[in-house]
This record gives sequence, structure tokens and C-alpha cells, in this order.
Amino acid sequence: MTDPSDRLRELQEAGLGAISAAANESDLLDAKGKYFGKKGAVSDILRTVAYLPAEEKKRIGAAANAAREALESAFDARLSEIRERERAAREGGDPLDVTLPGRAPAVGHRHPISSTMFEIVSIFQRLGFSVRGGPEIEKDYYNFEALNIPKDHPARDMQDTFYMDWPGMDLVLRTHTSPIQIRTMEAMRPPVRVIAPGAVYRCDSDVTHSPMFHQVEGFAVDGGATMADLKGLLTEFCGMMFGSGLPLRFRPSFFPFTEPSAEVDIRCVICKGSGCRVCKDSGWLEILGCGMIDPAVFGFVGYDPEEHTGFAFGMGVERIAMLRHGIADIRMFFENDIRFLSQF
Ligand code: DAH
Repeated sequence: MTDPSDRLRELQEAGLGAISAAANESDLLDAKGKYFGKKGAVSDILRTVAYLPAEEKKRIGAAANAAREALESAFDARLSEIRERERAAREGGDPLDVTLPGRAPAVGHRHPISSTMFEIVSIFQRLGFSVRGGPEIEKDYYNFEALNIPKDHPARDMQDTFYMDWPGMDLVLRTHTSPIQIRTMEAMRPPVRVIAPGAVYRCDSDVTHSPMFHQVEGFAVDGGATMADLKGLLTEFCGMMFGSGLPLRFRPSFFPFTEPSAEVDIRCVICKGSGCRVCKDSGWLEILGCGMIDPAVFGFVGYDPEEHTGFAFGMGVERIAMLRHGIADIRMFFENDIRFLSQF
């Protein structure tokens, strides 16, 4: 029979091997059960020690306890190693899981008013117009006077406005983009062909009017611009903007800065002319004002009306966007509700 102390040495060696080979807590517990747990091989030997002679009892008992202690401390060391490694993997290791499906960033797009404005402007750019801008806080002179709208003239009532309280300066929030006509003509000699988009302001607020809205102004001056050129240009524009073949009509109107003046209507895009709520049963939708530039306006900028003629037009961007997209309330454009804006 082999000496129990030899057997203990074998068990200790095998146990230490199993402990250091354990890859995880479950392997480690298996090793403990097999070698030094309550029902393990070392405990079996300890249980038999009681039946040995006193001398042997001491020797084998001490050897068995030493073997168990060695295995236990190896077990503890390995256990903390395994736990530490698992914690590191969980927390710090490599947090990037390349197999996770990606989260696409939300990609925005232009506001429907901006995209409509860009579209109008780019059509005129293709037709030979260049883009200019002007200040939104404008001199009374440019917004009204030089456009042939004198102080205290009833024509001012057409555009109720916001006056700026600025000592010594007659300033208003511009009520239209037409002042850009004056600023351009002051700066350039004919021929000019300009398209001018921008924000404008009026004391007006309901479902189809906002105190701030947008217009696109256009005008051309040269040696012999005629009403026929204006009609041809706007017919071309309406075809490109709303679809070719769409009927339109020029209706006589009045603007202080054009003579003669007209308003352009397109066949109602909602009912196609049969009459509906949007066109107020007329079958037509008004989309812009236009006319031949009044010689009085040329007088303000030093153009000779005998030498030059010109035409001008102005349109509301919100109105055009509302017609194209079937939007009934202008305020939706300015509420910044992502559910509304993301539709365009
Ligand atoms: N400025 C005008 C308005 O806001 C629109 C307009 C009408 C502009 C006729 C023009 C024009 O250039 O010729 O009501």
C-alpha cells in the first residue's frame, strides 16, 4: 500500500494543476470539489487519519492539512485572477462591439421656405439674373419714398409696418424686397437683371399672414425692355415652377412703383379651375405682382426714362410654398415642429 503522504503529494500536484488550468469560476469549483472540498480526495484521507496509530496520525494529519492549505490558497489566488479578468473585460477591455447595428445620425434638410426660395432664385439664375440682397432694417426712403410712395400718401396703407425708434433716422423693418431695386439701380448702370430674395415684415397676423415672411423680387432694366418681355419671362417661370402648360392670366392692378401694373394668377393647383375653398371659387390663384418700372422711380436713381425701360415683379414665398404643398396655415412654417418640417 502506498504511503498516504505520497498520495497526498500526488493529489496536491494534480489539484494545483487543475486550479491553474481553470478558465473560469465553474472550472475552479469543479477542481475544489474533486481535490479538497468536503467530499474531495484530501478530505477522504483526513477522515481516515483517526484510525491511524498516534505517531502516523500526527504525520499524515499535518501533511493532509498542509496539502489542503496549499490548494486553498492557490484556489483563492486563481479565483481573484479570474474575477479581475472578467471585470476588466466587462468594464474596460474593449467596449466597442462591432457587431451592433449602427445608429444612423438624423440628417436634416432645408426648411420648406428656404428650398422654395432657392428654387425660385435658381430658375431666374438660369434665365440670366444675378442675385442681390439688402438690409432688413431699411431706410424709409428706400422702402417707400424712392419707390414713389410719399409720406402721408394713402398707398402706405397697403403695407402697415414696424417703425424703428432710432433718433435721427427714419428706419423701418422693410415691408417688401422692392427697396433692393433702388439700392441696385443706385449702384449699377443698365443693363441690370437682378433677383433678390429675403425676409420682410408687416403688422399682419392670421392664418395666411405672418408678421415676418419672405419675398423674391426681380427686375430688369435696359434699352428696350417691354411688357411682352415681362409676360414671356413670367410665363416661362410659372411653367418651370408649377409645371408647363399651366394657364395663367395677367390682371390689371396698381402699384405705386410700376406703370402699368398687373397681378399674375395661375389656374388653381388644387381644383384645376373648377372652384374650391382655396381659390375662393374663382378657379385662379394670385401669385405675384408686376409691372413696368414707373419713370418716377427712375427719377430717384438718375436713370433717364427716355433712354431706359424696365420691368419688375415680386412674389411671396410662403404663399407659393403653401400652394405647392397644400398647407392651409402659414404659422406651421414657423412653429418648428419637426413632425411638420420632416415631411418636405
Ligand atoms: N412689393 C410689392 C408688395 O410687396 C410686390 C411687387 C409688386 C413687387 C409689383 C414688384 C412689382 O416689383 O413690380 O406688395
